[in-house]
Amino acid sequence: MNTSAEWRTTKRIAVIPGDGIGLEVIPEAVRILQAAIAKTERKADFVNFDWGAERFLRDGTTLPAGAVEMFRSDFDAILFGAVGDPRVPSNRHAADILLGLRAKLDLYVNARPVELLDASLTPLRDRSEDDIRFVIFRENTEGLYSGLGGQFRRGDPQEIAIQEDVNTRRGVERIIRYAFAYARSRQLGKVLMSDKSNALTFGHELWQRVFAEVRREYPEIEARHLYIDTLVAELVRDPSQFRVIVTCNLFGDIASDLAAQLAGGLGIAPSGNIHPGKVSLFEPVHGSAPNIAGKGIANPVGAVLASAMLCDHLDWGDLGDLLRDAVRAAVRARQTTRDLGGTRSTREVSDWLLEYVTKTRLAT
Ligand code: IPM
Ligand code: MG
Repeated sequence: MNTSAEWRTTKRIAVIPGDGIGLEVIPEAVRILQAAIAKTERKADFVNFDWGAERFLRDGTTLPAGAVEMFRSDFDAILFGAVGDPRVPSNRHAADILLGLRAKLDLYVNARPVELLDASLTPLRDRSEDDIRFVIFRENTEGLYSGLGGQFRRGDPQEIAIQEDVNTRRGVERIIRYAFAYARSRQLGKVLMSDKSNALTFGHELWQRVFAEVRREYPEIEARHLYIDTLVAELVRDPSQFRVIVTCNLFGDIASDLAAQLAGGLGIAPSGNIHPGKVSLFEPVHGSAPNIAGKGIANPVGAVLASAMLCDHLDWGDLGDLLRDAVRAAVRARQTTRDLGGTRSTREVSDWLLEYVTKTRLAT
């Protein structure tokens, strides 16, 4: 729940569609979210921001000055599409906007829930919905994403490039604690921490020590550890053993793409960049997908499930559940885009979801 929102009766939601298919799926997700909100007495204002490649190429804007303060004081949540465009060298704008917001808003939890909505969607053999249901909590503000490092003798055969892996006591502790608290509040029974402390003997040895400490506060929760290479192998061999996974920034990035594929692919995976009690950012995992942008075939489900997570953050869990139910029903009714084996367009899937949301009674 957002503390600043407690006094704000009309929630304020910032919308940043960004680039590529973000521009196609986010307006659909907003339309569906608005229909869900309209079923209740609740109110939300949506404010659009045009940050992305187009704007960057036009006037050089990435994350404008004052944006972070504005989000902190005037907004409860951000719905984000994707940033990335082949016209921008190394996607400089993307790092500024997305990684900038994650770091500057101190969104230290990157929550990536993985749920098999229908058994037909997994590439694994003989797996049911119950076998693939877990969440990855990725540390989201430090590690190899800290941007600390440099290049020495650039372009020279002797060139040296250094990228530092920053692990702070506070940063490691708060994400591990978040994972245990989450497992406790939902009675999930277990937490797995993954690192590479056998090779990264300074940075990840800290993860080991902090994990050993925090687990003592949660004696009822089974605490387990796997090195990251073993974890990815085990995710493929038997995903049913996992409920809550917590790991560092880069490993979480990689493991969450693999995990998304187990549950139907990047088209349906949502994520939340969260600081509990503060303005937080929700986005589909898929990225801007320039190869299919503008064709009307992008899957809107990732964005819809991200807005369901946004609802949970606003303490509107009933609306989050309604949106998740709608997606589950659409998948079962085979009302899907081609990445899920269907034939529907972005607009057709969205229309179907909108109708489901409009017609279905809200659980009380
Ligand atoms: C993600 C993306 C980003 C990341 C990129 C776009 C910088 O892959 O959200 O998983 O690495 O965090
Ligand atoms: Mg990624």
